Amino acid sequence: MTAEYQVHGDVAVITMNNPPVNGLGYSTRVGITDGLSKANADASVKAIVITGAGKAFSGGADIKEFGSPKAGAEPNLLSVILALEASTKPTVAAIHSVCMGGGLELALGCHYRIAAPGTQVALPEVKLGLIPGAGGTQRLPRVLGVETALNMIVSGEAVPSELLAQQPGQKLFDKMASSPASLADEALAYARSVADARPLPLVRNLPSKHPLGDAYFQFARNMVKGMSKNFPAPEKCVDVVEASTKKKFDEGMVLEREVFTNLMFTPESRALRHIFMAERATSKIPDVPEDTPKREIKSVAVIGAGTMGGGISMNFLNAGIPVKILEMKQDALDRGIATIKKNYESQVKKGKLKQDKYDQRMALLSTTLEYSDLKDADLVIEAVFEEMGVKQKVFEKLDEVMKPGAILASNTSTLDVNKIASFTKRPQDVVGMHFFSPANVMKLLEVVRGAKTGKDVMATVMALGKKIKKTSVVSGVCDGFIGNRMIEQYSRQAGFLLDEGATPQQVDKAIERFGFAMGPFRMGDLAGNDIGWAIRKRRAEERPNMLYSRTADKLCELGRFGQKTGAGWYDYQAGKRDAIPSELVNKMIDDHRKEQGITPRKISDEEIVQRLVFALVNEGARIVEDGIASKASDIDMVYLTGYGFPIHRGGPMLYADQVGLFNVVQAMKRFQKNPRDDASFWEPAPLLAKLAAEGKTFS
Ligand code: NAI
Repeated sequence: MTAEYQVHGDVAVITMNNPPVNGLGYSTRVGITDGLSKANADASVKAIVITGAGKAFSGGADIKEFGSPKAGAEPNLLSVILALEASTKPTVAAIHSVCMGGGLELALGCHYRIAAPGTQVALPEVKLGLIPGAGGTQRLPRVLGVETALNMIVSGEAVPSELLAQQPGQKLFDKMASSPASLADEALAYARSVADARPLPLVRNLPSKHPLGDAYFQFARNMVKGMSKNFPAPEKCVDVVEASTKKKFDEGMVLEREVFTNLMFTPESRALRHIFMAERATSKIPDVPEDTPKREIKSVAVIGAGTMGGGISMNFLNAGIPVKILEMKQDALDRGIATIKKNYESQVKKGKLKQDKYDQRMALLSTTLEYSDLKDADLVIEAVFEEMGVKQKVFEKLDEVMKPGAILASNTSTLDVNKIASFTKRPQDVVGMHFFSPANVMKLLEVVRGAKTGKDVMATVMALGKKIKKTSVVSGVCDGFIGNRMIEQYSRQAGFLLDEGATPQQVDKAIERFGFAMGPFRMGDLAGNDIGWAIRKRRAEERPNMLYSRTADKLCELGRFGQKTGAGWYDYQAGKRDAIPSELVNKMIDDHRKEQGITPRKISDEEIVQRLVFALVNEGARIVEDGIASKASDIDMVYLTGYGFPIHRGGPMLYADQVGLFNVVQAMKRFQKNPRDDASFWEPAPLLAKLAAEGKTFS
């Protein structure tokens, strides 16, 4: 049982004890109802306090129970709350630290609530594509007023208890404790003070209304609609809170349950719940236990002050870790530092960064032209040109100067990390830290584990990733790691689609309607088409039989590298980023088709989306099979945080699960018959074929 029962004189205390946040799992729920029965049966008990042990009152549902039959087993949370309301002796929730979701709903079922200052109070269900499902939508408006309650329910954000206590007319807290430390004693005293109060107050009996009535809800609905495209839950929050003002309490509860259940089965909620779990799972490396000793990282060195070096440095400065940047020439250093300054200054101008914080960060930054100045750094990250010869010289030099135990990382996006490690006499200290551009903004960090990378190095870098607020995903060594290895297949499909009859704008529009932030051609223009060109040239030597559309090379031969040259797949006007369809490019593609003897055909948006996304899925399956990623959900996190994959679809692998792997394989078989496409491309990866045949999913 994960709830304890104690009697202090004439007050019974039920303490939820289910670390880390007293999740309301089955045994906690049983503990609470058992405690209530005991207290009600004991004539010497006059009042009941319910609280949480450790670092929370309660964080709500127990995530370990998610999706299992135990989650709804009786007593479910609704029954526990009914039991609290029905108690013939007063129940007092003693709230502290964290009071969220089901935890708050539980407290709202008590007759009284006393809270410690500094408690984070929230109904965060909307973040999982749901609404509160145990009365939160009906009770919170009754104690905080419709507007405050709706703001909390629609945003899911936590609000500190002391702020809520200041809301005029609030009935959420009957009393604020003077400090978290005195909460237990004050709760006992408060319980005694209300021991004889009758009738016992119930939140359900309070009124819920807004002075502007329909006008307010219409306004709220419009606001929410504009901000929550692709997600159904926020609008539903407005509906159910409105119901609290129009329906009887019990009818409102019926509606809440109905809406909650329907949302549970939406693909959007499934995606958000998947992401919630996947995010937490990224840090788990199967053979690196959580208690693996870590190295201390108190200072960082960065080699190269270019596009990536500057952004990478900012991450550490933001986290209060000193950074020293090395370059070959003073003017390269000056340019790099100027860019960092410009970035911070624009944040200061926008009011996103305080001047003193900016000063503190810049004070942590230093520069050098001498390797010997770096020797004491705990971690060095190389971000020089993407050429093995250049990397070799840098790593040989680092091996020579860096102190023993320093971690030597490379930000390479495509090169072999094992080979880079072999340039040193300490391959156990070498690891890939693949940031994404702009490195100070993008959440993704691929941590590339070399064949000899030490477990303590992996543990250290993963923990550091958390410190600089990245989503760190482990990748094995292969060409492109997880993200870029998959994007190669996506780009190849995009090229084939042009060959067959689509235009760049049709492809981009189709995949953007699916939800991608940017289609492949707009993306190419932003990143620079010359980068992909260089990579294709290298790969052509390594894999001469790989089939590509020639259109992208032809574009580059015209010097159309993208926004930076004012022209790419699209035309650009000076100083603007709007992509204007280019007649010249469309003619170039058309001429290319003629040369190849291709009669263009009309391609549906659905086919475009399927071919692009299933290309990712098939390569993703190979990546899991090859052990490059340890689980499919890691691949989803890479695509969601690094490649603009639509959040509401939960990542390519979950999307495939939702479509059904059998259907994915069937579509791939259809594409195989396509005469222009590369038939071998659509050979389902063995893992995909196997799961589809067995009726299973990646997750
Ligand atoms: P960049 O050309 O903007 O910067 C490279 C910098 O390194 C230049 O300032 C150059 O002066 C300096 N440098 C070159 N050789 C050096 C040496 N021997 N010692 C000291 N400094 C030296 O290149 P960028 O884009 O920053 O790329 C750097 C690395 O990051 C490459 O390995 C690239 O593949 C990788 N990368 C790039 C991404 C991007 O979107 N640009 C994304 C992820 C990784």
